[in-house]
Amino acid sequence: GAPETRTPTGAATGAPVVANGQQGAFLTTAQGARLRDTDHSLKAGPRGPTLLQDHHLREKITHFDHERIPERVVHARGAGAHGVFTGYGAQEVTRAGFLRKGKETPVFVRFSTVLGSRGSADTVRDTRGFATKFYTDEGTFDLVGNNMPVFFIQDAIKFPDIIHAGKPHPDREIPQAQSAHDTFWDFVSLHTEAQHHTMWNMSDRGIPRSYRTMEGFGVHTFRLVNAAGATVLAKFHWKPKLGVHSLEWEEAQLLSGIDPDFHRRDLYDAIEAGAYPEWELGLQVFPDTPEETFAGIDLLDPTKIVPEELAPVQPVGKLVLNRTPTNFFAETEQVAFHLGHLVPGIDVTNDPLLQGRLFSYVDTQLTRLGGPNFSQIPINRPHAPVNDMLRDGFHQHAVHAGVAPYRPNSLDGGNPFPAGDAENAFVDVPVTVAEAPKVRANPASFDDHFSQARLFWLSMSPVEREHIVRAYTFELGKCYHQAIRERQLQCLANIDPVLCAQVATGLGLPTPEPTVPLADVAPSPALSQLGRTWPAD
Ligand code: HEM
Repeated sequence: GAPETRTPTGAATGAPVVANGQQGAFLTTAQGARLRDTDHSLKAGPRGPTLLQDHHLREKITHFDHERIPERVVHARGAGAHGVFTGYGAQEVTRAGFLRKGKETPVFVRFSTVLGSRGSADTVRDTRGFATKFYTDEGTFDLVGNNMPVFFIQDAIKFPDIIHAGKPHPDREIPQAQSAHDTFWDFVSLHTEAQHHTMWNMSDRGIPRSYRTMEGFGVHTFRLVNAAGATVLAKFHWKPKLGVHSLEWEEAQLLSGIDPDFHRRDLYDAIEAGAYPEWELGLQVFPDTPEETFAGIDLLDPTKIVPEELAPVQPVGKLVLNRTPTNFFAETEQVAFHLGHLVPGIDVTNDPLLQGRLFSYVDTQLTRLGGPNFSQIPINRPHAPVNDMLRDGFHQHAVHAGVAPYRPNSLDGGNPFPAGDAENAFVDVPVTVAEAPKVRANPASFDDHFSQARLFWLSMSPVEREHIVRAYTFELGKCYHQAIRERQLQCLANIDPVLCAQVATGLGLPTPEPTVPLADVAPSPALSQLGRTWPAD
């Protein structure tokens, strides 16, 4: 017979999903019974004790008691918006349908700080998350990036460690949302691979003017595959139409007190006023060679960039944010991003940071969103039809028809079918894995920790350098431990003697000599945010 029609767990329409919260004119119980009074509990006389039988009181208070869910273990503080992505065409490098010329795809974006708790201030010095969910016809694609193109660590196994060091001290729970503390500087001066990202944090990029004026980066190198099966390596970039702008440190500090919701308010107000924020998505494309390097830069090392002078960013589409969330909790808080949400044409590489992230996001969401069915929450539902063999579990909302959620089967008419037209299915690129001993080790190229921090410093304009020196001086000045300040100064000496001397003077400490030869690197003017416009003209 004909295969059973299965209830898709996702909305197949592509229309924005808004769950029905309020459905009538009268106050009711959760079961829909009309209520006469919600202000007085049922008592044994006006002065008597409250009766256990008051089911409305119990329902109201019990539900309230369970309103909170755990905040994200990182990136707890955020703001989101809906929008539309329009492709410009990129078929030479990827078969991903949402990048086809003129193709429109609904998106949800969540911007965030990394270290602060859910109620912390927006304008603190920190990295910002820039996570985009593309509800494509071929399944959901998540680009889970940051506003800085590099990361603190090279291997995901250190992620709990850097976050433990960056979060507030375990004893006093201070500082709540800044890098100015001993554990942070202890970590980055001992794990010197973090020095490049730390320099970005100490630069103006650590205190964006607005979410609307931030770049975004996928950070890792991805592998793209086109319809003919040819592959390239690529890095994703978001370029804000308004240009890249930052706050002054004094402005950021004042705003933290005057309006801790500054970025959240700015995003919401701009969209409500019709000033829709826009970004272009761009790709840096590299040949997919066995070495996985470009211009001598290891593309699997997430602490390294490829300067745009060497590999220009090619625009492949435009993002417009044009709708604010209806309900913060339902959308911004419950959205669940994951690097493993890939579509045909985009695959991962062996970057050891990326590999660990592939595990972490779903794992944490199992706790944060209460079980294995969070892809059925409206904001997480794919806009492509879903026909999986996943069943049951806490918070199951789908009513799956059929009796045989396995394949092949002879009971449900064969449904679910294999991807008959394999052409449109996801293909894991059959990359050859080197025959090598199992080791806990990095490639030798990962040992270079200072050259790109130096590249960044040398690429800055005088005013940007002044801000960097002031930021290091301020933040290190807040450390209680002299030994940590001195160890970080040693790192700065290995990056640049001028930078080191200026910070040392500010701290009233001697300037150490470098312990490694200074890297011979050419500045990349594209790294300076001054005078940058996009599209580059
Ligand atoms: C959350 C970016 C590295 C674990 C996030 C979010 C962003 C992000 C933007 C917030 C998502 C949202 O708005 O809901 C990045 C980038 C990284 C990186 C760009 C490096 C290139 C890592 C690593 C791990 C990790 C190495 C773990 C091994 C997490 C976890 C969350 C998170 C557990 C919370 C997710 C949730 O509760 O829904 N990350 N991250 N991240 N990240 Fe990362």
